[in-house]
Amino acid sequence: MMEFKASIFTVAVLTIVLSSPAFAQKHKSPPAPATPILPPSPAPAPGPHHVDLADLLSVAGPFHTFLEYLQKTDVLGTFQNQANSTKEGITIFVPKDSAFAALKETTFANLTKDQLKSLILYHALPKFYSLAEFNKLSSQNPVPTFAGSQYTLNLTDNMGSIHVKSMWSNPKISSSVLSTYPVAVYEVDKVLLPMQIFKSEPPLAPAPAPAPDAKESDVAPSPRSTKSASAKAKDEEKNSSYQAGVGIVNYLIIAVSSGLMMLLW
Ligand SMILES: *[C@@H]1O[C@H](CO)[C@@H](O)[C@H](O)[C@H]1NC(C)=O
Ligand SMILES: *[C@@H]1O[C@H](CO)[C@@H](O)[C@H](O)[C@H]1NC(C)=O
Ligand SMILES: *[C@@H]1O[C@H](CO)[C@@H](O)[C@H](O)[C@H]1NC(C)=O
Repeated sequence: MMEFKASIFTVAVLTIVLSSPAFAQKHKSPPAPATPILPPSPAPAPGPHHVDLADLLSVAGPFHTFLEYLQKTDVLGTFQNQANSTKEGITIFVPKDSAFAALKETTFANLTKDQLKSLILYHALPKFYSLAEFNKLSSQNPVPTFAGSQYTLNLTDNMGSIHVKSMWSNPKISSSVLSTYPVAVYEVDKVLLPMQIFKSEPPLAPAPAPAPDAKESDVAPSPRSTKSASAKAKDEEKNSSYQAGVGIVNYLIIAVSSGLMMLLW
């Protein structure tokens, strides 16, 4: 409190000193050197607009489970890089949370790290396809995916109803989340299950499906925990910038006070 009062006093005194005519006379600042009038600098060219896949998937869907796997396997970076830096672009088939929930909890429990990564890569094609192009694409079956030429999908377009067939599932594209070159994101109602990873048909979760809360399998990362972790990180960020702000204010007060000291002495 004392300090606060003291600094208000300092500022007040400084203001009076600086604005007094005597001070102005004595310390008349030399005329500012003529600064050349620069032409207004051209506005920086807008960078290419890139879709942030994590942002997109966190608000659409819900696609939390797929997003968690994308992050956990580092495939998110691979997809994002393909989206940002290639002219081919990318097409991603994103299963809804309910599609993961429909599988038995242990379905992915025994997969190796590499298998899990391939499984997630399997959900994308290394090229942008609009929905209208699936008609043509279906004549090229089997279509290789991001997971490699062995990991293929068969696409069928039956009067606008497009299905994406893997060995153990044949989901329909239930909605187009984004289809703007170079990024296409299509919602599918089932997880794609390639034969290279699943030798037999993975069992479904017992019906009726339990509430989504009870659904998080051992390997499925919990969307909620990550969310709160990132929220925490944000809070910390805020705190530290707040502290930095306070630090700067203190520093300024010290600087002003010492400037005043020099004037007075
Ligand atoms: C892609 O572009 C977005 C938006 O400009 C940017 O935030 C992100 O860092 C880029 N990512 C990669 C992998 O290039
Ligand atoms: C996972 O592996 C364990 C031990 O090898 C086995 O008992 C279990 O049945 C496997 N689970 C699945 C879903 O394959
Ligand atoms: C995909 O289509 C090809 C060619 O029509 C066919 O040989 C193959 O068995 C199909 N694969 C699946 C998983 O349906």
